[in-house]
Amino acid sequence: MILVSLNKYTKKTKFMYNSKITGLGFYVPDNVVTNDDLAKMMDTNDEWIQERTGIKERRWIPEGSEDSSSVMGAKAARIAIERAGLTKDDIDFIVFATLSPDFYFPGCGVQIQEMLDMRTVGAIDVRNQCSGFVYGLSVADQFIKTGMYKNVLVIGAEFHSGGLDKTDRGRGVTVIFGDGAGAAVLSRTEDNNKGILSTHLHSEGKHANELIVAAPSIKHWVPEILEANDENDESYFPYMNGTFVFKHAIVRFHEVIVEGLQANNLEAKDINLLIPHQANLRISQFVQKKFGLSDDQIYNNIMQYGNTTAASIAIALTEAWELGKIKDNDIVVLAAFGSGFTWGSVIIRW
Ligand code: ACO
Repeated sequence: MILVSLNKYTKKTKFMYNSKITGLGFYVPDNVVTNDDLAKMMDTNDEWIQERTGIKERRWIPEGSEDSSSVMGAKAARIAIERAGLTKDDIDFIVFATLSPDFYFPGCGVQIQEMLDMRTVGAIDVRNQCSGFVYGLSVADQFIKTGMYKNVLVIGAEFHSGGLDKTDRGRGVTVIFGDGAGAAVLSRTEDNNKGILSTHLHSEGKHANELIVAAPSIKHWVPEILEANDENDESYFPYMNGTFVFKHAIVRFHEVIVEGLQANNLEAKDINLLIPHQANLRISQFVQKKFGLSDDQIYNNIMQYGNTTAASIAIALTEAWELGKIKDNDIVVLAAFGSGFTWGSVIIRW
């Protein structure tokens, strides 16, 4: 039975099942890198980083560690599966969101299947950068809502530190990124009023070049880079037009949260907890102010972890849940914006 209801902003389809988050977990490397540590590598300082981004420290995988996006993702996933009261054999599908996969191909999802010794379930990688976890939840939600799968594992993980430009040249980008992973298990519920109420996804590819790692790619392949031996070639480091991205982020965050609220006949005052993607504390504060939310209605942890991209919402959601900030029936809103540009929101009744 499928009920369809139309809304002013978005089409919302009501299915027989909803998906709800039954398990959460996260993992970050032990190695803490402070702003003062960064100041020893490049021309930056604690005051600038804190004032512009709110970040005090981040975790970077130390040299010699076996951690990678998939390894960290597996660590977070084990916790999430256990907390869901399930075993790896109960998982029907894997969704892995990352911009820093271990390999160009195959993706990290299949590595999770192997590392967790799972059945030969399907596994896909989602390549939507900072919006990756929101996109991943949406993909998982659709599979559960249609009745195809019962339990889907969604992972967001990033190994940024291995690919950053740690010289003065890279300071505008490098200081914001951290490593880590978060995971959620989504399970079927027959209660239509609980769990993921709706998801809202968007993209605008004309801005792809404003936040990009351009190489190596099929267009700009490794032998070509090596042959050119051009130390000024920055194409394999992340490039970000920070101010441009910032300006778009604050508009899109607002838009997509409004879209999600309206689709569910909710208002900002109904939000019990907003977890924005942790891109910049100033962006989160702007969004908080725009919706008139109190400090208790928003959760930020960028101060400790930096921007962990596809992992950031998963880590923050897990941490907020562990701290008892999410209660039964709470309206929890997740929202993200990032490279692509891509953006999205998830509206949950816990
Ligand atoms: N330390 C000290 N000075 C610095 C640093 C640094 N680490 N980085 C840049 N500066 C300098 C610049 O050179 C510039 O100096 P100038 O005025 O002499 O030219 C000055 O500081 C200001 O630089 P801006 O780039 O204008 O700084 P801004 O205030 O815009 O902050 C930041 C930069 C933090 C990156 C901000 O623009 C931002 O957060 N943008 C949005 C990020 C985001 O949302 N990304 C999306 C998700 S990421 C993803 O999807 C992968």
